[in-house]
Amino acid sequence: MSSALLDEATRIAREFDYPADRVQRGVEEYIKQSNEGLAQENTTLSQIPTFVTAVPNGTEKGLYLAVDLGGTNFRVCSVQLHGDTTFSLTQSKIMIPRELMASGTSKDLFLFLARQIEAFLRIHHNEHFEAHLRRRRDGNDVEDLFDLGFTFSFPVRQCGINSGTLIRWTKGFNIPDAVGHDVCALLQSAIDELHLPVRVAALVNDTVGTLMARSYTSPGETGTLLGAIFGTGTNGAYVEKLDKVTKLKNMKDAHYDTTTGEMIINAEWGSFDNHMSVLPDTVYDQELDADSNNPGVQMFEKRVSGMFLGEILRRALLAMHNNPELGLFKTSKTSNVSLPSDSLFYRQWGLDTSLLSQVEADTSKDFVDVKAALKDHLKIENPSDAECQAVKILVHAIGKRAARLSAVPIAAILIHTGKLETENMVDVGVDGSLVEFYPKFEEYIREALREVSQVGVAGDKKVRIGISKDGSGVGAALIALVASKDENLRSPNGNAK
Ligand code: BGC
Repeated sequence: MSSALLDEATRIAREFDYPADRVQRGVEEYIKQSNEGLAQENTTLSQIPTFVTAVPNGTEKGLYLAVDLGGTNFRVCSVQLHGDTTFSLTQSKIMIPRELMASGTSKDLFLFLARQIEAFLRIHHNEHFEAHLRRRRDGNDVEDLFDLGFTFSFPVRQCGINSGTLIRWTKGFNIPDAVGHDVCALLQSAIDELHLPVRVAALVNDTVGTLMARSYTSPGETGTLLGAIFGTGTNGAYVEKLDKVTKLKNMKDAHYDTTTGEMIINAEWGSFDNHMSVLPDTVYDQELDADSNNPGVQMFEKRVSGMFLGEILRRALLAMHNNPELGLFKTSKTSNVSLPSDSLFYRQWGLDTSLLSQVEADTSKDFVDVKAALKDHLKIENPSDAECQAVKILVHAIGKRAARLSAVPIAAILIHTGKLETENMVDVGVDGSLVEFYPKFEEYIREALREVSQVGVAGDKKVRIGISKDGSGVGAALIALVASKDENLRSPNGNAK
């Protein structure tokens, strides 16, 4: 194997080291920034009050609609909560056309979403839908509405359980005229334009949905503490004591139930340390940020989540490719590797993060899956073993740094809420492509958690981490239920009042 290539890959990989002392510093800084966020607006960690003041216990019942906007797909589902920790879910998924994500108007986008809801109702709840249309035609009072939970996974300043204004887009979305507007109202007016029997009852971040869904499906002694997403983006929502959310005092119009003494806070940790006081930084991170459509924000997310890891890797590999001494992926007398000029290797965001999962999973001696991934994703054929090994070294370094960074907010929240000091197990629900598909992602998170002095081996043993699938569906339905109870909305679908 070419040792120059491997030496250079190893050297670059070292730049991604994120050792224990830096994890510890990260945790301390996170706790500081999270306290700032609980006290005031416009801090790096938004710490958004969600107005959800209780987690479910598994006995909730009813039929609800939920929609999910936040990644590459738009999902519409109906969720039947059976009241015994189980549920049935019917869903449809559609890819969001790129032009609607980044160049259209908010009206185009929300009408598109409403049309998908209409199509879903026609296929799966046609009887109800037709009955509604009939009543409307006959001039009867139209009250027979579905309550819908709207999972909208972007930073939103919530004003109540069913309203909130968009702070900024993330994850490649960019529709400027929506910023500063109430996204529930935007969806409701598109729904009304199509005369659908649907009321937007709750606005839900996917992390809050994950927390709720986990709490419903695995009720423990104390409920779930934290819901976290490590997918296209990253973020977490956790249960906070109301009296610690001191900025609520300045929100004069806010109405919420104070009986539990708690509220779920959407941390928006993707923007942790935007000013880069403790986050690791390589030249590849810097270039990625400078060329992104939101430089200087979501700095934590840009080092951790799926939308970005592929691009970090691409930039590191490209640097080696452009280094004439190394000749990575270049044909020569000794190598007949082929890399066509239209390869996504040369395109910004061209390298999908699923390549990292595939490469990391390959333990074969002859790099079978690495080769397949390079060919499928980037049309790179006949790479040498040394080239494959170099890719593996970089992938491992970038993925491991992401996982170790992910431990920072988790540890900080465990410490800040004092939950490790109680007798009970602490439950954490997670979702997203990295935790699901990146080999050993959770193991690396746990390794770093144990290195944090206030967590240690004993603390780590108290933490139960479980995948919480369908948070954006079930979780949104659960919050729609809470909201419909709160507001005493009418409940035509057998929903709890
Ligand atoms: C968004 C969060 C979301 C996370 C995971 C981030 O980009 O800002 O609101 O929870 O992605 O989807």
